[in-house]
Amino acid sequence: MTTIIIPFTLFFFFLSISSTTTLASFNIMDYGAKADGHTDAAKPLLSAWAAACGSGKPASISIPAGSFFVSKALLQGPCKNNNIRILISGTLIAPSGYSATTQWLTLKYVQGVSVLGGTIDGRGQSYWACKTAGRSCPPGATSFAIDESKDVLISGLTSLNSELFHMVIYGSSGITVQGVKITAPENSPNTDGIHIQMSSGVTVTASTIKTGDDCVSMGEGSTNVWIERVSCGPGHGIRYIGSLGGTPDEAGVQNITVKSVVLTGTQNGVRIKTWGKPNSGFVKDVTFEHVTMQNVQNPMVVDQNYCPGNTNCPNQSSGIKISKVSYTDVQGSSATPVAVKFDCSPSNPCSDLGLQDIKLTYKNKPAESYCKNAKGSTSGFIVPPSCL
Ligand SMILES: *[C@@H]1O[C@H](CO)[C@@H](O)[C@H](O)[C@H]1NC(C)=O
Ligand SMILES: *[C@@H]1O[C@H](CO)[C@@H](O)[C@H](O)[C@H]1NC(C)=O
Repeated sequence: MTTIIIPFTLFFFFLSISSTTTLASFNIMDYGAKADGHTDAAKPLLSAWAAACGSGKPASISIPAGSFFVSKALLQGPCKNNNIRILISGTLIAPSGYSATTQWLTLKYVQGVSVLGGTIDGRGQSYWACKTAGRSCPPGATSFAIDESKDVLISGLTSLNSELFHMVIYGSSGITVQGVKITAPENSPNTDGIHIQMSSGVTVTASTIKTGDDCVSMGEGSTNVWIERVSCGPGHGIRYIGSLGGTPDEAGVQNITVKSVVLTGTQNGVRIKTWGKPNSGFVKDVTFEHVTMQNVQNPMVVDQNYCPGNTNCPNQSSGIKISKVSYTDVQGSSATPVAVKFDCSPSNPCSDLGLQDIKLTYKNKPAESYCKNAKGSTSGFIVPPSCL
């Protein structure tokens, strides 16, 4: 017979492992939430958050099935642990009239938070109606904002009908968005899917985005972004927009990969757009690979002459330098004759654009391409013929 002797220190080691792997669990029902769709569950949610965030060990927050009205919730860190899971089975619903807030649900200053499952409904309809009628409307709310945070996973979330953007990732790093479904009507104004800005290490995969504006948009300071297996449309497509407010000093955009995406019936496909204004920013190392276009109005676009209403910028030249942008295996149909348009800055021409295996048709015939101030190289088959 053998006796196994576990040294005392090892025994305590096992004990400490098992205690850190058990989750402290908090259910919003225990804090007074009611799944009736109208009693404000903001306080119960914030109390559960405070408990989870204040827990010295990994914690979970449960939002059970049913419909919970939440007026507004700011889930703020820093927390005492770096492993909080928010498990959502039900639906969180926003105020129905447009709210005075600019962010409905927010994660801020957190690290190591996962949001798993669930539906959030921004109920943007009356806000859109205000905008569409041309009345003066409040600024509107982003449904879900991730601000100044690290290591956040959003998985399996459904976001419906935001007043403005569905999801905004700002000042953050290590953010993974996977398996999300974002839906708003095609004619809903500014209901962008996911907007990324001043953030690094953002991955968006296996998601479906149907909105009235951009599917995924990237603003200044977006670096190391990976977008894969995302289907877009209706909406405005995937874009980088330089100089959101036309400000002169912008953080650059670098190392962006967009891979295996399908765009259906969108206004644009993959687009880089900058204001026609002086600027010190840049866009480089952008890869578009395995992109399928189905009846997209402007499949491949670089437009450096953005000047809405022709005010404050006519006849100026964009200072944003665009280089090393590659397009590989981009195929499908264009809804307009010009499928490829590279309209770059006269003072900062686009350089190192790369095209490989492009086939875009218009009404089953080769489409056209247009180049201005654009330089680069091609390989493989290129339809429409390159103008680089
Ligand atoms: C580019 O970004 C990806 C993540 O999207 C990352 O894995 C890779 O290391 C980055 N490349 C460089 C050169 O920083
Ligand atoms: C811009 O340039 C066009 C053509 O060169 C010219 O007709 C127009 O007057 C200019 N506009 C301004 C505001 O300078």
